[in-house]
Amino acid sequence: MAMKIIKFDTISSTNIYIKEHYQELENLTCVKALHQTNGKGRLGRTWVDRNDLLFSILIKDNLYNPCDYSFLIASSIINVLQDLCPKSKAPLVKWPNDIIINDKKIAGILLEAVTIEKVECVIIGVGINTNTKDFNDELVYKANSLSNILDKEIDNDDLLDQILKQFTIDYYNYINHDKSYKENIMSHFYLMNKEVSFVYDNKNYKGIAKGMNENNELIVQTSDEVFNLKSGEVTLTNLYRKL
Ligand code: BTN
Repeated sequence: MAMKIIKFDTISSTNIYIKEHYQELENLTCVKALHQTNGKGRLGRTWVDRNDLLFSILIKDNLYNPCDYSFLIASSIINVLQDLCPKSKAPLVKWPNDIIINDKKIAGILLEAVTIEKVECVIIGVGINTNTKDFNDELVYKANSLSNILDKEIDNDDLLDQILKQFTIDYYNYINHDKSYKENIMSHFYLMNKEVSFVYDNKNYKGIAKGMNENNELIVQTSDEVFNLKSGEVTLTNLYRKL
């Protein structure tokens, strides 16, 4: 079944729109905008766009493990992008929420939930740097766009169609207990065997990332213990290097 798409030219944020209207919207509705005036990134950051792909998906059913959805959408995005990109520019998932190509962020995922006693809905917000050409001094070492990587303009509607088709397949597999999205994430795991720094319980640690456990927690081996880090609990530091 094709997903319903609501399209806006300009909106504050597609995540905010769904948060305010989820009661009257159907499960698997997608909201897409050409431009956001209050685009939101993780950790309270703003998400700036210039002719990029911005959309959110509403999930109202099958909310047993809401956090799974950020990995499910990441897996769908990886599948679509790897067909567009040559092997030397393969997309990877940087646990928990970023899509990376050649060490730079191409897309971010902002998962939010509306909770009134129980989880009422989950909102999967996705921003893909499709057509931004120039990044400011702070971002140029960390971010890139598909158009810079592939050296062509990206058709946002076409890319969205492909991602939603893939996500619909992945969603129905997921609700039928197919866990193959996790294998897909693990085989495109940007952090594997990389050194990560993190803050846990107000203390700084350093260790080597060893993958993701069955609860989608990041496994990190430090010199004297193994941590299983939940995505909401930990801030990874030092991940991008100046080139
Ligand atoms: C991140 O910080 O990496 C997450 C960025 C998520 C941005 C997208 S753009 C569409 C949706 N609406 C928002 O306000 N944010 C998400």
